[in-house]
Amino acid sequence: MLLDWYDVHARDLPWRARPGDPPPDPYRVWLSEVMLQQTTVAAVKPYFEAFTTRWPDVAALAAAPEKDVMAAWAGLGYYSRARNLVKCASAVVERGGFPESETGLRELPGLGAYTAAAVAAIAFGQRAVVVDANVERVVARLFAIDEVLPAARKAIRQRAEAITPERRAGDFAQAMMDLGATICAARDPKCLLCPLSAVCEGRAAGDPARLPVRAAKKPKPVRQGQAFWIEREGAVWLVRRAGRGMLGGMRALPDDGWSARGDGTGEAPLDGAWERAGLVRHTFTHFTLELSVLSASLERQPDGEGEWWPIERIDEAGLPTLFAKAARLALA
Ligand code: ADE
Repeated sequence: MLLDWYDVHARDLPWRARPGDPPPDPYRVWLSEVMLQQTTVAAVKPYFEAFTTRWPDVAALAAAPEKDVMAAWAGLGYYSRARNLVKCASAVVERGGFPESETGLRELPGLGAYTAAAVAAIAFGQRAVVVDANVERVVARLFAIDEVLPAARKAIRQRAEAITPERRAGDFAQAMMDLGATICAARDPKCLLCPLSAVCEGRAAGDPARLPVRAAKKPKPVRQGQAFWIEREGAVWLVRRAGRGMLGGMRALPDDGWSARGDGTGEAPLDGAWERAGLVRHTFTHFTLELSVLSASLERQPDGEGEWWPIERIDEAGLPTLFAKAARLALA
């Protein structure tokens, strides 16, 4: 039922094989699945094209300097994914290729349960149960699971497991994803077009759009911080963020450490005549940041490590979205 629908309606995506064709290159499957976590297909497409053009196979990516990969990832968010990418690629090259089983894949550094299942099913034709947010929604509706998320995940997984076929598990997973993305949409399910409508318990119960049930969202806490746009002779002072925390490893404007302290009381790193360029609001997973952007021209080198980056090439600096927005403000 679902696979027949997929044979006709599968979305044509750059990391996919056509339904029924031999599976695509595991490298492309792995890379796309990492990119697609927490990120939409539309946002991923140009990044996937850029990555596979620049690093066409896993050996090329394994040999890439981490900072180049981080810069190329800028704008996709959840930057620990990019840090893990190079490590995982190196491990794959070292062992001579991707493992084909879900358990083997799971042993690679930074490769989680979702990615292992997706790669095993899509690239290696293994029966693996692949549950992302789209699949979660389709399954919750199909079986009218009205437990509240995240508690509902256990029941959703069991049901997904029960309906995953032995053959074409990868096509099945992607069919569920496509159904969730195009028909079983979060707000406005198009049940009249759905290949599963006749057997859908959520539809039979009358209001599929209310599933899956989510706990009321808590408002995100708001943190305040300051970032500094420091110019000299057509260049701006950029730093590299330390560690593995928020935006760790990414190029950035210097700031007052909002991520650690978050009370906006940090001192400006330099004296001088700061001008307010404006305020950037940016939403992260667990909080919203209000970042005040201060700008100044400077003769001497600021303290600490950094580099003067030509302002006319600021788009190539690989700034994460938060700092790209701040740069835009400072330049407005
Ligand atoms: N989301 C996550 N993986 C996907 C895939 N293979 N196709 C479409 N959407 C996806």
